[in-house]
Formats: sequence, C-alpha cells, structure tokens
Amino acid sequence: MEKRTVYLKTFGCQMNEADSEQILGILGQSGYRSVDRPEDATLIILNTCAIRAKAEQKIFSDLGRLKVFKMKDPSVKIGVAGCLAQSMGERVLSRQPAVDFVLGTMGLDELPDLIEKSGRGEKGVSLAMSGNSEEVRPDAVRSSLVQAYVPIIYGCGNFCTYCVVPFVRGPETSRPVQYILKEIRGLAGQGYKEITLLGQNVLSFGKNSKENVMFRDLLHLTHDIDGVERIRFVTSHPRDMSLEIIETMARLPKVCEALHLPVQSGSDRILHAMNRGYRRRDYLEKLELLRENIPDIAITTDIIVGFPGETDNDFEETLSLISEAGFDHLFGFCFSPRPGTPAETLPDPVDPETARVRLEAVFNLQREISLKKNEAITGRVVEVLVEGPGRKDPAIFTGRTRTNKIVHFPGRSEMIGKLVHVKVEQGLPNCLIGRVDHQDKHKR
Ligand code: SAH
Ligand code: SF4
Ligand code: F3S
Repeated sequence: MEKRTVYLKTFGCQMNEADSEQILGILGQSGYRSVDRPEDATLIILNTCAIRAKAEQKIFSDLGRLKVFKMKDPSVKIGVAGCLAQSMGERVLSRQPAVDFVLGTMGLDELPDLIEKSGRGEKGVSLAMSGNSEEVRPDAVRSSLVQAYVPIIYGCGNFCTYCVVPFVRGPETSRPVQYILKEIRGLAGQGYKEITLLGQNVLSFGKNSKENVMFRDLLHLTHDIDGVERIRFVTSHPRDMSLEIIETMARLPKVCEALHLPVQSGSDRILHAMNRGYRRRDYLEKLELLRENIPDIAITTDIIVGFPGETDNDFEETLSLISEAGFDHLFGFCFSPRPGTPAETLPDPVDPETARVRLEAVFNLQREISLKKNEAITGRVVEVLVEGPGRKDPAIFTGRTRTNKIVHFPGRSEMIGKLVHVKVEQGLPNCLIGRVDHQDKHKR
C-alpha cells in the first residue's frame, strides 16, 4: 500500500478534540498513520471552530500556508472538517481552492468516501445533519493516556443569541446510555482513571430521550464502574444546575470538586438579551448552594464583554459579579458577531477598543482573585493525577488536582497515569508548584 500519513490539526473546544480522536480512528482503519508535521503528510485535515471571527481568520491563514505542501506534491490532499466546515459548506472551496473536501460535524463516517473522491480529482462536500454513529469506535485514537473525554450529548438547543453552536452542531441529542457506559468500561479497562462527560449542556442529558436516565443517574452509573477514579463533566448551563444534581455531586466521592459554570455577564439586562434564562441573583444563589454542599469546590466560568448594548454600568456589574463569585479561573472573550445568529444584527455595537479595555480589566481582576485562591492552598497536600513531563524541563512533571488546577512538581516517568500526593509550596495565578509528599500515608 502507498504511504498514508495524516496531519490533523484541531481548533476549538473539547467537542472537536473528541471528534478528532474519532477521525484518527476512522483513518487508522484505512491505513493512515498520524504525523506531527504537515510536510510529512499525504493528507492534511483541519478540524475547525466557528465560535468567533478570530477562529475563522486563523483557519484560512493556516490553509494559505498549508497549500504550499500541495503545490510541492499535488497528490497531497487537504480537507476541512468541523464547525466552520459545517457553517460555510461549499464556500470553503471558493475561498481556498486548494481545499479538496469539506466535512461537517455530523457525518464523520463520510470521510473515507470524501478521500476516495478526492483521489479521483473530485471535490466533495458532506454536510449531513445527522448520522454520526453514536457508538464511539473502540479504536478512537486518544490524545491523553490518563484522562478521556466521553461525549454524552450532541448539539445544543439553547440558542443563546450570540452563539453558532446550535446551527453547526444540530439539535440537542442524548447519546444512548448503553454506548456511553460501554465506552467508559472500555476506557477503565485500558487504565484511564479520569473520565470527563462531554457536551454543550451536559445537565440536559436525558431530557430529550425516552430512556428516562437523567444526568444525575448517569453520574451514579459512571461512579459504579470499577477503575474510574475521577469523574468530571463539561459544560453545565447555570439554568439547569439543580439542588438534586448538586447533592448527587456531593454524595459521589469520584465526582471531582470542580465545575465550569459559564455566567457570560453580571448584568440582568445583558443576560436577558443573550437569552441565557437566569438572572445574576439566580447564578450567585446556585454558587452558594454548590459551596454549602461541596465545600472545596473550584468554580470556573466564561465571560463575554462588549455584547451589543453593554453599557459601562452593565460592565461594572460583570466586574462586581466576578468579585462576588470568587472564581478560581475564567475564560474571557470579546463579543464576536457570528453570521446567522440573532445578536449579529442587534443595535448599539460596542466599539472594539472599549471591548478590549473591558476584557483587559476582567483578566486583571481575575488574576488577583486566582492568585489569592492558589496562595491559600500553599502548605496543603493535594491529590494529583500525573500527566507527564512538562515541555520546558523534562524533570518537572505536570498533573491536575481534583479541583482541576495544574500542578508542576519534580517527577519520574513511573508516576504517569498514577495518583500521587503533592505538597503545594507555591500558588501562582495559573498553576501550583509543589513536591511529592513522600511521608504520605494515603498513597495508592
Ligand atoms: N456550551 C458552552 C460553551 C460554548 S462556547 C456554554 O454554554 O457555556 C464557549 C464560550 O465561548 C461560551 O461560553 C462563550 O463565553 C463564548 N462565545 C460563544 N459565542 C461567542 C461569540 N459570538 N462571541 C464571543 N464569545 C463567544
Ligand atoms: Fe452556545 Fe448557549 Fe448552547 Fe453554550 S448553551 S453552546 S453558549 S447556544
Ligand atoms: Fe468551536 Fe464548534 Fe466547539 S464552534 S467551540 S469547535 S462546538
């Protein structure tokens, strides 16, 4: 067989990461081996994101650079997959003619056909609105050896007014429970200790299916699987966070004390315009409930600044919410108008410079809060799942606490994939520095 190598680059969120693992699994069946450099590849695929205009620009500038490899060797094929592919369809081909095929998010099984067609010189566009096999193939190529993402719900039905996801990922659909559990059992059997249940709004799990297994039931079922030691889930919609779910999280020891709960804004007016379905007060009350039930829980969030109509006053409310909430970490973005979304055409846009200054203020405030939170952990011994050596210094290893904080510590390769106890010696805004606690009696 001729040499078949693929260079796959992934943009965007964990959904795309999970799809990329699937894509490599599918390609593996056709004899493709994955390579790290585009110059070594016979097939180049970008798995793209459409969430903000910046993502789109980055992808087209990458394509401009990658087409050089095709000019050198015309047998090289270039494919564009993922959310931008789904939203632009054929327009990808007219904007960058070096592209051979376009593959949307919901029909990954079409990939071998598209590649075969491109071998015959035909350009293919596949934008199925459903059809991804719900059973993840056992040969999905996982990017981490210690933690795995498991999709439980596809698409999104929330239609936040700024967001393209419902348009590029289709309606909210829960994956059949038996497939989810089968995949998790398989992963546990291979030694994966940490499982992250994945979806745009995992808390909705089961609401759109006949199976009558709700999210909290799924947490129980996952908890029952031997070998799984840590359970996480992303993303949760604040509107759907209920006392029942909070109590389930608190009751199940494998469920980690960490939660990503995107608030987006601290102003009720803006939250309403975003169609988020909760008010500032509701959100803060839920945080209180979470902290009462799960005392050490770390909370992270997403913030959008510069939504159309956001006044200085609205923005002040976002800053005050960040202070009141005391997040462990946040991801902040300037609003980016996306084609086809209701917010694209809203009046009173915030000028980009004002939005940039606001985002800067958000980051500065959060930096102080994160630093204080992480400094407060100094001296404590925390459980860390070891990922591997860091990039800068191979003797310094990286892992994560149950609260999902990154920890750097001197380590050895035998520790990879194990749970160790680390004494925290320093807390920085974005990570902890420590040392393995050898006296520790709780070592596994
Ligand atoms: N389903 C998740 C995450 C969706 S995308 C959720 O509901 O929270 C991740 C983040 O990107 C969002 O939380 C939001 O903060 C940001 N985002 C989405 N659309 C955006 C847009 N048009 N402009 C700027 N930020 C956006
Ligand atoms: Fe987008 Fe809102 Fe769905 Fe999240 S919940 S993916 S922000 S529409
Ligand atoms: Fe981007 Fe698609 Fe995720 S638009 S953020 S890759 S769901």
